Amino acid sequence: MIRLGVLFGGRSGEHEISLMSAASVINAIDKSKYEVVQIGITREGHWYIFDGPTEQIESGSWEQEAKAALAADPEKYSLQILGTGGASLKQRIDFALPILHGPYGEDGTIQGLFEMIDIPYGGSGVTGAALTMDKILAKAVCEKAGLPQGPYMAMTKHEFDEREQQLLLEIEEKLSYPMFVKPSNMGSSVGITKVKTREDLKKAIDTAAIYDHRILIEEGIDCRELETGVLGNRDPQVSGVGEIIPSAEFYDYKAKYFDGGQSKLCIPADIPAEKVEEIRSIAARAYSLLDCSGYARADFFMDRRTGKILLNEINSIPGFTKFSMFPLLWEEKGIAYPDLIERIVSLGYERYNAKNSR
Ligand SMILES: Nc1ncnc2c1ncn2[C@@H]1O[C@H](COP(=O)(O)OP(=O)(O)O)[C@@H](O)[C@H]1O
Ligand SMILES: [Mg+2]
Repeated sequence: MIRLGVLFGGRSGEHEISLMSAASVINAIDKSKYEVVQIGITREGHWYIFDGPTEQIESGSWEQEAKAALAADPEKYSLQILGTGGASLKQRIDFALPILHGPYGEDGTIQGLFEMIDIPYGGSGVTGAALTMDKILAKAVCEKAGLPQGPYMAMTKHEFDEREQQLLLEIEEKLSYPMFVKPSNMGSSVGITKVKTREDLKKAIDTAAIYDHRILIEEGIDCRELETGVLGNRDPQVSGVGEIIPSAEFYDYKAKYFDGGQSKLCIPADIPAEKVEEIRSIAARAYSLLDCSGYARADFFMDRRTGKILLNEINSIPGFTKFSMFPLLWEEKGIAYPDLIERIVSLGYERYNAKNSR
């Protein structure tokens, strides 16, 4: 039996989202094949083993019940589970499945830990996770390859503070309002503001800077939002295309998770067949360019006026509840939710074995 460690929670603004995704994933895992080890990470970064029901993961009350801390033990190439009261029981997990969104989970950091302690894991490796998490770097890599993206500018908060007036002029020269101001390294729309005036632009830069000193400013596109799922290592498969119809002015944090289901997912998206193919082909290229493996969700904008397709971003650990876009896109292609999880595990083993055979 494979001891499958599912990691959830984490030190990011997307802590709650991770709890929802992980509870859903754990419920669906085939318990006759996998022994699930539920590994919770608190917002403060403490690791715990939690062996209670998934309802408590979803509600967040697992933190009160958790009994043991977990620490990396590089000498033993394992994760060491430290019992309470000084007892130390060492337990190995065979495979790690991080269902963590945002910084310290989706950004290459925890992937680096898995590499260090030499256990196979699900999803992208260090480079893929780090590149897709960093909006500025991802944009630069995709731009070099000629993938279509909207107009943008990147800067650090430090640069902005040093020459604010000059930069404001440069931004307004290059981009027109409305603009989107984003921390380079975040997710779930946390820290993102849509701005229509210079006054708001300045405030939005301060807001973004709470999350990252590197800041991305994009021209706002009057767009439809289209997403596709990618699955695989070297020759990835791409699902069909779905559309998000946000309940708010844009797909912000609240609209994503707390609007009581008013944002709608439409699968398949009602767009021309050639647009579907264009999106699928850009998704596959971006996935490989950004060194993704396992699985990811690629997000696009379709300009309402011109019909032009623009790559927005790739999420290396997309939302994974049963009602999330990524699993629903695969269900439409005939891959059921539990099978999707199995595929992700076997792709993780495939990458691990390929690396070890080199
Ligand atoms: N340039 C843009 N034009 C129009 N809408 C945008 C733009 N950038 C972001 N948005 C809106 O904000 C949402 C979140 O932005 P995104 O870059 O996808 O960040 P996150 O990584 O937090 O999901 C998008 O889903 C979209 O609704
Ligand atoms: Mg997004």
